[in-house]
Amino acid sequence: MSKISKVWSREILDSRGIPTLETAVMVDSGQIGVSAVPAGTSTGTHEALELRDTDNPRYLGKGVLKAVENVNTVLAQAVIGMDPQNQLEIDKKLVEIDGTENKSKYGANAISQSAAKCASLVVGKPLYAWIFDLASIGGITKTVKIPTPLLNMINGGLHGAGNLDFQEFWVIPASNKSFAEGLQMGVEIYLTIGENLARRGAIHSVGHEGGYAPNLFTNADAFEVFVESIKQTKYSMGRDIFLGLDVAANSFYKNGEYLIKDKSSAMEESALLEYYKSLKEQYQIAILEDAFQEDAWNGWKKLYAELGNSVLIVGDDLLVTNSKRVEKAIAEKACNGAVIKTNQIGTVSETLHVVKMVKDAGWKTVVSHRSGETNDGFVADLAVGIAADYVKFGAPARGERVAKYNRLTAIEYELSKSS
Ligand code: PGA
Ligand code: ZN
Repeated sequence: MSKISKVWSREILDSRGIPTLETAVMVDSGQIGVSAVPAGTSTGTHEALELRDTDNPRYLGKGVLKAVENVNTVLAQAVIGMDPQNQLEIDKKLVEIDGTENKSKYGANAISQSAAKCASLVVGKPLYAWIFDLASIGGITKTVKIPTPLLNMINGGLHGAGNLDFQEFWVIPASNKSFAEGLQMGVEIYLTIGENLARRGAIHSVGHEGGYAPNLFTNADAFEVFVESIKQTKYSMGRDIFLGLDVAANSFYKNGEYLIKDKSSAMEESALLEYYKSLKEQYQIAILEDAFQEDAWNGWKKLYAELGNSVLIVGDDLLVTNSKRVEKAIAEKACNGAVIKTNQIGTVSETLHVVKMVKDAGWKTVVSHRSGETNDGFVADLAVGIAADYVKFGAPARGERVAKYNRLTAIEYELSKSS
């Protein structure tokens, strides 16, 4: 048995220039697993806490030296001597020692992910295969699988340039396409959209996740650009390609109403639901994430009741990879898909537990990056190891986004050689 002999962390930068942690777990046989913590911009209020040095002016109060210190002292002491293959015990220890509902005592730290990476090196398996072993012990899946990518072409909301209200506009390759085919289709459409936006004089930047952040007039205009662009490729909407949205409705919700540029006045839940129905009819929307605010349970239930048969209704800020919130959503029939983000809950084992609940309920899984990312590809291996239905890693552009897509390409190649 290998034993964890050393754990250390340091402050690095994420893709937004904001500090985060990179943590290493080393065993006595010398292998080192290294992993980094991503961070959100449009975080749900029920997520695990990002501990930041708010009382220290360096990095405008966004430093993470306190969290680094916590890893290097108390958390390292807690896991040193443990077997990295015993993920459940390591994670139980991390949860127990923090002791708070939202990991607010010591903050997000990536020890759990780094221990999993270290274990994969010890057993001599690729990370996705080691995660698959953990997932199959838990009865989560019987096979590995490369998920379908939700490719984020246009960034609005808190990720954009302040112009569009909806956060992520996706193209979704049909599920009968291989990952390589889907990625190629996505890139061809992404580049075509870029040309069309430039021709309209509408492109002036990209957003947090590498999608264009154009100065269009309304949210529906973004879909018009999609339709125009897809027509110029050899793919057809409704057969090869579908559209989807992460609305991230928290960001335009105020006092029970939703205000978007497409409408002259703020809408109540029922009016916004009608608007989603019309978008669905017009633009073949197949997946809708966070269509209502994170605690608007009644709106979610109505949406699911009315559209759940034909559209995948996905919760992110609603669920925050938290078993209690997922349990409630299953009982209340609020959705039928869950975004899975390890850093929302803090450890790999808690993440796997939520994945099991979600799969047992017959829902779909969407394994996701964050808007503040690093080049760590952990999330790609996680998605394959748990046989997720979908991944969202942003646009097929920008280093920290393509790091994940390229990792899936490598895994797809590896799996094709071994089958
Ligand atoms: P975030 O956005 O990483 O800024 O939270 C991603 C998402 O909402 O899915
Ligand atoms: Zn989201």
